[in-house]
Amino acid sequence: MILPPYKIKVVEKINLIPREEREKRIREVGYNLFFLQSQDIYIDLLTDSGTGAMSDNQWAGIMLGDESYAGSINFKHLEEAVKSIMGFKYVLPTHQGRGAEHVLDEILVKPCQVVPGNMHFDTTKAHIINVRGRAIDCVIEEAYQPDTEHPFKGNIDISKLEGFINKDPENIAYVLITATCNSGGGQPVSLENIRQVHEVTKKNNIALFMDAARFAENAFFIKEREAGYKDKSIQEIVKEMMSHMDGCTMSAKKDAINNIGGFIAINDKKLYDKLAHKTVLFEGFITYGGMSGRDMEALARGLFEGIEEDYLRYRIGQVRYVGEKLSNAGIPIMKPFGGHAVFINGKGFLPHIKQENFPSQTLCIECYIEGGVRGVEVGTILAGRDQNTGKNIYPRLDLMRLAIPRRVYCSEHLDYVCEIVVNAYKRREKIKGFEFDYESPTLRHFLSTFKRLKN
Ligand code: F0G
Repeated sequence: MILPPYKIKVVEKINLIPREEREKRIREVGYNLFFLQSQDIYIDLLTDSGTGAMSDNQWAGIMLGDESYAGSINFKHLEEAVKSIMGFKYVLPTHQGRGAEHVLDEILVKPCQVVPGNMHFDTTKAHIINVRGRAIDCVIEEAYQPDTEHPFKGNIDISKLEGFINKDPENIAYVLITATCNSGGGQPVSLENIRQVHEVTKKNNIALFMDAARFAENAFFIKEREAGYKDKSIQEIVKEMMSHMDGCTMSAKKDAINNIGGFIAINDKKLYDKLAHKTVLFEGFITYGGMSGRDMEALARGLFEGIEEDYLRYRIGQVRYVGEKLSNAGIPIMKPFGGHAVFINGKGFLPHIKQENFPSQTLCIECYIEGGVRGVEVGTILAGRDQNTGKNIYPRLDLMRLAIPRRVYCSEHLDYVCEIVVNAYKRREKIKGFEFDYESPTLRHFLSTFKRLKN
């Protein structure tokens, strides 16, 4: 048993409303789980982003917020934390991860240029497209095989990457490694792969960046799974990961255990100057970037807490606990289990529902009805339509994600979640799929509504 390295000082009441009420609420919101009120949810596994529980140390930092427009001391603390943990020279604060993506892509991506990566997160891809670039996924083939055990399914396929680069090296804006790889199931990237990608980018004079939202979880997996790292500290591994990067974007809502915030960190002063202009324009002055002083203080402290090894062992242990329980009950899930979430294979869970009728979304709806548990579809609805043909994209991975917020739920909550999923599994043959009632032209997973198929 992995023991929790903290105890609970503050609690928040949660309620399980009756089943008939849940059926009514989800019907009323057009079967879109994003439209539910949080008080109608018992266990919320929609995301691990901004949903973590801050520590007493972070809350104490909140009281020390210096809300000066310019020169806040809390920014200094943030800058020091990033420098000391990641080793970059310059830090630009942003309101959250996508703010950092916006600023970076405005400067680095020219129209028609390509950003290859392992698997870009959806906001990352959207920001590259927003400046008329192209985001290309070059993850290894194993990433698309839910049952294949591979320790680093977030790795980039080096020959695929070189293939793209060799076609037209001038046309590559930069290369991005997302660690861990959220869209691929929270799967890590090995240091060996990071090193190889760096060799390729260095040879071709291309910048290499990391989407570092879950960098600490990635480092933990390296320690656990990669030869030669067992005796290294998380801090040492993080430093080595980042030593290959020209910079990173960060959503502080994940591994910095903050409720909001983000930043860009880089080494190049000339690039910093360019990015600073865009930061002021889109986010705010370079010593707050859309965050309050108190948010920056909690973020600076959270960064240090997020790389504590006992915390990471327990956190990743929680995800593994849910994964093993579900797997032992015969539920088809992505393997190995990821860092922040368990991903259930919707097509395997509900094989009688066609992909065009959204098996993973159906599963999310059923888990809410069954027990007030909210997960999220990472599948056909999220994938949207092809920009050129207007046709639906049917992704190879059609999944329901159960993301575990940091330091929020205990084993009883997680046992309950497993019980609910298993109950839904027992009656799976009777479950019917869905179709669009209203299909939103953009960001359709957030804004669309659905109706259940009659038969
Ligand atoms: N990069 C990755 C890998 C992410 O997972 C996210 C957000 C972002 C960037 C954007 O950061 O939300 O702070 O603007 N992921 C959340 C999720 C929303 O639920 O996985 P943000």
